[in-house]
Amino acid sequence: MEEKKYRVVDREITILHCTECESTQEKIKEFADNRWLVLQADRQSAGRGRRGRNWASPSGGLYFTFSYPFSDNIPPQLQLLGAALVLRDVLRLRPGVEDKFSLKWPNDLLYRGRKIAGFLGEAKGDSIYLGCGLNVNNSFGPDYSEYRRVPVSLHEISGDSYSRERILLDWLEKFVRALAGGRDEYFNPRFLAPEIDTIGRQVKAARVEGQAVGLSADGGLLLSAGGEKKVVHAGDVQEVYE
Ligand code: BTN
Repeated sequence: MEEKKYRVVDREITILHCTECESTQEKIKEFADNRWLVLQADRQSAGRGRRGRNWASPSGGLYFTFSYPFSDNIPPQLQLLGAALVLRDVLRLRPGVEDKFSLKWPNDLLYRGRKIAGFLGEAKGDSIYLGCGLNVNNSFGPDYSEYRRVPVSLHEISGDSYSRERILLDWLEKFVRALAGGRDEYFNPRFLAPEIDTIGRQVKAARVEGQAVGLSADGGLLLSAGGEKKVVHAGDVQEVYE
């Protein structure tokens, strides 16, 4: 496995790179004592998405898990939303890519309404394991025609190829700086809410159907249902539909 060190503010981050593993989200736990660690794979044979779903991980995509110490001044759900917004800021500066990104609660990044990246957050011990899958140079062919909304990659948007390593380093730089800043704007519900496409839509979550009207202080989705306000958290959502 290839190993590199990368410094952001006063944090030294170890980046491990492998050509293939089952899932970076599982494999990284074998290095559990190593904090501020990234494991990136060129391909995954058993990539995991949220809610037990499979995450197709062919060559060309960016797949990594970042493990770092849990800091309890930023609620985990806000860390995930912040991670997606940092990625948006990194991608919208790329040539050939327009500023047409939005977030879908709880942790997807969309481009013109199509999924381009997903995040998976887990807490174990005093570490957070933040997994990210981003469609970079891969493409979505006929296999995906049954999808209600076919995902999209950076390559499909512009026709260009992009350095996955550069995207990862740019994301790490911005995200770790934001974490070091504590309750940075990336983790502020008031700053995040206008970027979330889900807000304003009719959704069904935790058996409650209502209109998404905002974010709670810990990153939950505020729903207005039958004249009452309710907050749902990521684990409670059955479906969020357009
Ligand atoms: C989702 O949208 O459902 C979250 C997808 C997260 C996928 C990433 S790819 C790297 C890491 N390893 C995994 O097995 N899953 C996450």
